[in-house]
Parts: sequence; C-alpha cells; structure tokens
Amino acid sequence: MPPLRLSASLACADWLHLERDLRAIAEAGVEMLHIDIMDGAFVPNFALNLDMMRAVRRVCTLPMDVHLMVEAPERYVARFIEAGAAYVIVHQEATRHLQRTLAEIRALGARAGVALNPATPLCTLEYILEDLDLLLIMTVNPGFTGQKLVPATLRKVAEARAMLQARGLDLDIEVDGNVSFEAAPRMIQAGANILVGGTSSLFWPGASISENAARLRKAIQTDPHAGEMDKT
Ligand code: DX5
Ligand code: ZN
Repeated sequence: MPPLRLSASLACADWLHLERDLRAIAEAGVEMLHIDIMDGAFVPNFALNLDMMRAVRRVCTLPMDVHLMVEAPERYVARFIEAGAAYVIVHQEATRHLQRTLAEIRALGARAGVALNPATPLCTLEYILEDLDLLLIMTVNPGFTGQKLVPATLRKVAEARAMLQARGLDLDIEVDGNVSFEAAPRMIQAGANILVGGTSSLFWPGASISENAARLRKAIQTDPHAGEMDKT
C-alpha cells in the first residue's frame, strides 16, 4: 500500500483566517491540500475556484489534490494544472470520455485521479486502471460538508484495494466525506491511504488544527477501535 497521507479539505477552513489555517496545516505535518471545486450543476452547491488556488499557492507549497465536482471537467483540466494542481480528480459520472480525460491530465504533467459517487460501482474502472494514479472513493454523496458516512462505501474501499492488488497496481486510494476520528481507522484498515480531513477531523470545531491532526494520527496508528474509545 502506498504511504499514508492526510489531505486537508480547504473548503472547511476558516476563510477569514485562511493564511493562519494554511500555516497550521503545514506545521501539523499534513501532507496535502484537498481543493473542492463545485459547479452548481454536478452537485447542488458551489465551492472553491482557480483564483483561490493561486492565492493559496503564494503562501503554501503543499501539493494540491483538486476534486472536480464539475460537469464535463475535461473543459477545465489544463487551467487547474496551470493554477498548481498536483492531482486532478474527475468524477467518473461527469465525463463521457474518461480515458481521454485521464490521459490528458497525465500529458499535462499532473497525476490523474477518478472519483466515484457512493452508488457508482468499481467495475466502471475496469478498463482505465492503467491510466490512473489515484482513486477517490466518496464516502458521502459529494457537495456538502458535515454529512453522515454511507456505510457501504467502506466495503467499496476494501474491494478497490483487492482489485488493484489483483492487477499488481499500487495506486493511492483516497477517501472523502465524514472521515472522522472514529471512521478513519476503519477506512485505513479497508485499504485507503489518503484521508481527506474535513469538519469531522482536521477542522473539527472542538479543537485546534494541530490538536485535531495529532488526534487523527493517533487514531490511525493504533487499532481500529481506538477512535471509538477516544470519543469526547
Ligand atoms: C465534498 C467535500 C467534503 C469534505 C467534508 O466533496 O470534500 O466531503 O471533505 O468533510 P466532512 O465530511 O468531514 O465535513
Ligand atoms: Zn472533495
């Protein structure tokens, strides 16, 4: 399994103190920034954008994984890479020519990712696995922070890791949505190696980013039930 990494979901940061939060994220040793882009069509909401990415770049060098919750994302791939995306993640459900879109992301020098909504089966990826660097398994329906986990998605993570191993592929599996202190250990155990930290963990309002990051690391370094006992 590729190395374990945390990706801070910037949509959950305090935008009035964004620079402060970015420094806290980097100081806490968080490895990546998760950038949610929503177009008000693929999902019924709006989120971050290209200008915001460029502003973030000026004070933070962490790699950005850009999650495009956007219809026909192939229209915008090049612009997100220009704005600094290290990973561009498109939804399987949003692009008609998935293989071409992934190949274009790689050709432009970024890593190519696909996201699957909770209802979308893994078999849709059968013929594009070689074109992939990262698989993002949505553990909630995309579009909003603070939602409940869709339990069947844990089984999907386990089946995805098994499918990749059977094909001899060591890709990143990222999980996004309600990655809580309690759920994170189970997600790792199922085979995820990148956790998107949102309001349920890194930006949990009851503690600071650095305390939340430490608590999340502790939860995933111990056994899968540690988080439940640690509940406050
Ligand atoms: C949507 C977002 C959220 C986000 C929220 O696609 O990416 O799922 O990370 O994190 P939570 O669920 O912890 O508020
Ligand atoms: Zn996301």
